[in-house]
Amino acid sequence: MQAFNTVAFIGFGHMATAISTSLLGSNYHPEHICAYGGQQQTRERTLKMGIAHKPISDITEDVLILAVKPQMYKDALAPYIGRLSPHTVVVSIMAGVSINQLKEYFPKNPVVRAMPNLAATFAKSVTALYTSEAEYLQPVKKLTDSFGQSFVLDDEAQINAFTAVAGSGPAHFLYMMNQMQKFLQRHHFSEDKARCIVDQVVDSTAVLSQQGQENFSETIERITSKGGTTEVALSYYKEIGFSYFIDESLKRSTQKSIELER
Ligand SMILES: NC(=O)c1ccc[n+]([C@@H]2O[C@H](COP(=O)([O-])OP(=O)(O)OC[C@H]3O[C@@H](n4cnc5c(N)ncnc54)[C@H](OP(=O)(O)O)[C@@H]3O)[C@@H](O)[C@H]2O)c1
Repeated sequence: MQAFNTVAFIGFGHMATAISTSLLGSNYHPEHICAYGGQQQTRERTLKMGIAHKPISDITEDVLILAVKPQMYKDALAPYIGRLSPHTVVVSIMAGVSINQLKEYFPKNPVVRAMPNLAATFAKSVTALYTSEAEYLQPVKKLTDSFGQSFVLDDEAQINAFTAVAGSGPAHFLYMMNQMQKFLQRHHFSEDKARCIVDQVVDSTAVLSQQGQENFSETIERITSKGGTTEVALSYYKEIGFSYFIDESLKRSTQKSIELER
């Protein structure tokens, strides 16, 4: 299957705006993108981006991205039952709505689940992809790779653990960054300088992590001198069982994601 030339959205809120921003920054023009339905927010957002806002009608675009809030999906999709061109591939980014649930609305169309994050705005989303219709994976991956990096899942249920790490993960790092910034401020660094230092530490960490062939434990070992400042900090983490807390918080996020699917 070829890549998609035209992209439609149902639901044009924060995520659709983020995705469209990146699509427009790659090889899509505003006339390749449109949004169906919706009201005030949709009109304002599409107008700003030069994208067409269409009323509820037949959908003929190559791909239809479903991006309404999960609790609204039944009302939002019902008017389009039987109105999708058979070639349109449905990509749902809605959390907690399964492929089986979506097939009730679009039984004749291929359905792919994608789980991006808001870093899509900067083409830095970490996106999970799952479908049981394998031939549609590559064209969808090509589309989702234009707003970040996509990872194909083996099983739809993995989307919950993925969401715990990729969806909620940034908040874990930001939580730690916030504590580090406050620590520096207690040591008389200005708020701006402290923030800048912490941001730079994150940048250097990403470079260290992405550079080598080592696993994370090996990199930690390499940057930890015997009897030094890092070793004393990490020993404290071991002493209090910090890894247990990380694991437990990820388990809770995964469980929450499963509950939201019900
Ligand atoms: N935000 C994230 O970080 C994130 C990450 C991964 C996945 N997601 C998923 O992405 C989806 C969208 O999230 P979001 O944060 O972009 O939500 P959002 O900003 O609330 O956007 C949803 C939009 O849907 C429109 N809408 C409501 N009813 C509609 C209808 N019947 N037809 C067409 N449009 C309708 C609303 O616009 P009007 O006012 O014009 O109706 C609203 O702007 C959710 O399902 C969420 O699970 C979000």
